Amino acid sequence: MSPFRITRTLPEDAMAAALRTDVRHGLTGDPKTLPPKWFYDAHGSDLFERITELPEYYPTRAEREILAHRADEIAATLPARTLIELGSGSSEKTRYLLDALTSLDTYVPVDVSDSALRQAGQALTAERPGLTVHALIADFTAGLTLPAAPGPRLVAFLGGTIGNLLPAERAAFLTAVRALLSPGDGLLLGTDLVKDEDVLVRAYDDAAGVTAAFNKNVLAVVDRELGADFDPDAFDHVALWNAAEEWVEMRLRSRADQTVKVPALDLAVHFAAGEDLRTEVSAKFREEGVAAELAGAGLDLARWWTDEAGRFALSLSVVR
Ligand code: SAH
Ligand code: TRP
Repeated sequence: MSPFRITRTLPEDAMAAALRTDVRHGLTGDPKTLPPKWFYDAHGSDLFERITELPEYYPTRAEREILAHRADEIAATLPARTLIELGSGSSEKTRYLLDALTSLDTYVPVDVSDSALRQAGQALTAERPGLTVHALIADFTAGLTLPAAPGPRLVAFLGGTIGNLLPAERAAFLTAVRALLSPGDGLLLGTDLVKDEDVLVRAYDDAAGVTAAFNKNVLAVVDRELGADFDPDAFDHVALWNAAEEWVEMRLRSRADQTVKVPALDLAVHFAAGEDLRTEVSAKFREEGVAAELAGAGLDLARWWTDEAGRFALSLSVVR
């Protein structure tokens, strides 16, 4: 049996404190917001896996298509001995990279979801004797410290998850990633691309209602962790395309005039009928924009690949 280690760099009480701060800040602001990382408790991670299988949700299939075709080229350009994956979730698509990286010694999946990390880590360890899997429960926006592991190192950030950060957060994030890298290391970044509005909105408002359930799950997390009395049925899931910002916005729209209590914060939050709680953005990109954001963090875009239909891109930056 090869080694599987899981390290919590995010102590549970720090997580609880961060949730309280985020919820207080978000629910007392105008407009009201809740930050996306709290979607991913065990149930949220399961719902996300169901999203990846929906007919309307093309990003996972498009990115898998690119990885299936390009993993060998990626490995030839960057023959990593350590693969670090941020927001790794199920690590399902990562298997293409693990197969192609023939010199790989250590895989470091990083996620806030310990249930996702445990499932993925245990499966991979059983499948791949000889690979060291060192999972990290950590917030990738909050200053990462990586375990000692041999170079060259490839950081992968897949799924278009970078689009869930706001532009200023993306800049800070890319700068922090760059600071982790040495010459010869690289960043493999998955970005969903700007396309027809109907296709985009349907990807975030599926007919079966799985995305609606996922969006509402953040209310269940706040109810469970902070004793709040959000009724998920009192809100409608809304996904809309913001053409100026080029992102899809997810919101929860209050069906009625209501007041929600959050006892752990000693807070009562009033919602007018039709008022929106903003939960998530999913930014869509163009090649020039990705290149500019990478350059702003001191990273040079070396390779750019899309799926056949041009819906999604993977880019590789190599540090010189
Ligand atoms: N990479 C996978 C999963 C994408 S979903 C794929 O492409 O299918 C986004 C993942 O990032 C989830 O597993 C979620 O738990 C994780 N995540 C979201 N915000 C995070 C944060 N701030 N720090 C660490 N992980 C985060
Ligand atoms: N990274 C995914 C994306 O932006 C996350 C996601 C998919 C998501 N569907 C969602 C987040 C619905 C919130 C609500 O595509």
